[in-house]
Formats: sequence, structure tokens, C-alpha cells
Amino acid sequence: MLQDGTMRDFLVLGVESSCDDTAAAVVLSRRDGTKAILSNVTLAQYDRHAAFGGVVPEIAARAHVERIDGIIAHAIETSGHTYEDLDAIAATAGPGLIGGVMVGLTAAKAVALAHSKPLVPVNHLEGHALSARMTEDAAFPYLLLLISGGHTQLIEVSGVGAYRRLGTTIDDAAGEAFDKSAKLLGLGQPGGPTIEAAAKEGRADRFAFPKPLARREGCDFSLSGMKTALRLEAEAISSPTARDVADLAASFQAAIAAHLADRTVRAMELVETTGAARTLVVAGGVAANGAIRSKLEALTRDRGWRLVVPPAKYCTDNGAMIAWAGIERLRVGLAPSFEEALAFAPRARWPLAEPLAGREHGGGKKGPKA
Ligand code: KG4
Ligand code: ZN
Repeated sequence: MLQDGTMRDFLVLGVESSCDDTAAAVVLSRRDGTKAILSNVTLAQYDRHAAFGGVVPEIAARAHVERIDGIIAHAIETSGHTYEDLDAIAATAGPGLIGGVMVGLTAAKAVALAHSKPLVPVNHLEGHALSARMTEDAAFPYLLLLISGGHTQLIEVSGVGAYRRLGTTIDDAAGEAFDKSAKLLGLGQPGGPTIEAAAKEGRADRFAFPKPLARREGCDFSLSGMKTALRLEAEAISSPTARDVADLAASFQAAIAAHLADRTVRAMELVETTGAARTLVVAGGVAANGAIRSKLEALTRDRGWRLVVPPAKYCTDNGAMIAWAGIERLRVGLAPSFEEALAFAPRARWPLAEPLAGREHGGGKKGPKA
């Protein structure tokens, strides 16, 4: 374990391969608190999976194998540093598609061994949870709304390694709902941006959508009913025009935004009772959605909360957030020994935090990841 973490600079390589992005980045965190993302390389695989209507684990793993070495080398080269300059290597060790996680973690182990550098296995969700601290001024504690293709969770973040999960999806993840619904409407993938674009021309009040889990206590999400409601509305129109598709997209997007906001308010109420700082951090690819952002802006403003949304390229899967999570762990002495890190086995499932009252749900198109 590296000692005296608070009093030094850290230059860390981050490696991410848990889903369909092969990514690597070099991040510098200086002892004076300043930080710099020196390189951030991401290669998506949409082209490889497009024909199958979703991410195919085998194809993803093979694409990671083909690309990972080149992506890591590119991240190092463009950072202006060499492997020898690195203080450590951080890599996603789960949760995610096991084949992909294995590829990235093994590549990171090889770099660590070849250059005798410390290795930090990182929980992908911790990467998302801490990313706002890399790009913004976000002090602990805060409430995190993580909305991506694989995860939809509300987490109270009190410190590095100190997480309390307040809610999670009981079925689909938010991004997954967008992707499946876009397919249903004949729009392109990824579905979030195509639905958002179609919705711009549409009326959000034309179709009524359900309010999932309205009468159930807690902050859990349920998003698969939205997709079903959309399908039923779409099927009721004999030959949908562009206007119909726009109205369907706008109504669907508004319903998702309303559900996310509703759950987030419940979590805010919970956090307010503990007197914790009133900051809401949003991460994950779905955070790019303008309608969802406006909704969250309005509700944080109304309740006197601060809203923090990292730039889109750090909201979606990226290597920089993994490097940053590694840095955060190194600073507080929470990184494992070299031997422990080398022996660390990739994990398909790896909950960041235990659920509030012992409840456990699956969810997400990549299986129950967390
Ligand atoms: O975080 P991310 O890059 O990858 C993981 O799933 O981990 O998130 C990708 C998801 C996709 O489902 C995509 O449709 C969604 O984020 N997304 C959006 C938007 N941009 C990306 N969803 C809604 N509106 C958007 N503008
Ligand atoms: Zn992610």
C-alpha cells in the first residue's frame, strides 16, 4: 500500500472495459488539490452490435481483446508521459460483462507487472460515483443519481468507500428503456439521443404514461412498464406518421423524466433528515438528456439543493473516472497490496453498497449487475 497519500502527486492510468466501450486515460492529481485529465481515449462498439439490437457479450469481449493494447498505448502517448512516470494503474474489476472486465483487468495487470507499478482494482460504479470530484468541485457528502444503460441507482456518497444505496431499478435501467423504446419506434441506436432528437418536435402531453411504484414506499425505480405503455400506444395507431413518433417520443421521455425526478425527491427527503449536504450529482449516459436535466434542475432549485452534472464524456463510461477512483483510493490508503491486486478476480456482480433494508434486485440489460 502506498503511504502518505495526501502529500504527493499521483499520475494514474485508468482502464475501462466493462461494457461496450474500450477506454483508457491518464489522470494527474497534484498535492495542491489541482487535477488534470492528460488523455482520455474511448472506442465505442456500436457498429459491432448494431445488427443484434443490444450488446452481445461475446462480441464485446472479442472487440476489447483486439483494441485494449492499442487504446492503452494511445492514452499513454497522448498524455505526454511514459509508463515509467506512472504512480499506479487502475482498472475496472467489475461489475459488468465478465469477458470484457477480464480483458481490461488482465491488460492492466500485465502493465503493472511489466513496469513494477501498483495496481488498483476499481468498482465501475465507484468510478461513476466519484467522477464528479474529478471534473467539478464536489465535496462529500452528496446524493448520486446514476442513470446509464446498465444501472439506475440512487446512492448516498459520504466518502471514498462509504456508500449507502437508497434505490435501484427493479427491472430495466433508464438507458435500456430508451434503447429498447427507440428500437420499437424505428429510431436508431443508442436510443437516448435518437428519442431526444425525435421528442424535440413532439408534444409531451399527448399520451399518458403510468406512474410506476407510486404507492410503494422507497426510492426504487421501475422502467419496463414505460416501454410496454409506449408499445401499446404505438400499436393503437394504424400507420404512425413522423408527428405521431415525435409525440410518442416526447411523452415517453417526459414520463421517464418524471419518474426519475419523483424517486430522486424521495431520496432527497431521506438525505435531508440526516442533515447531510444538499448536493445532487448525476452521472451515467442518460444524464446527457436535456429534458431529464431540466427536470432535475427545477427540483434541486425548488428545494435549495445544488445540482452537479459532469461533462457528458465523463458521465458515460470512460477511463478517466477509473483512474480518478484509483487516485481517490490511493489518497486515503484504501488500495490493496500488489499481491492482493494481482490476485483480484474480475467480478460480474459487485454491489457498491448494500441496499437499505436488505432488499436486493436485479435489473439492467447486461443482467443484474449490482
Ligand atoms: O453510461 P453509458 O455510456 O454506458 C453504460 O451503460 O454504462 O450510458 C449509455 C446509455 C445508453 O442507454 C444511451 O441510450 C443513454 O445512455 N443515453 C441517453 C442519452 N445519451 C445517451 N439517454 C437519454 N438521452 C440522451 N441524450
Ligand atoms: Zn457505466
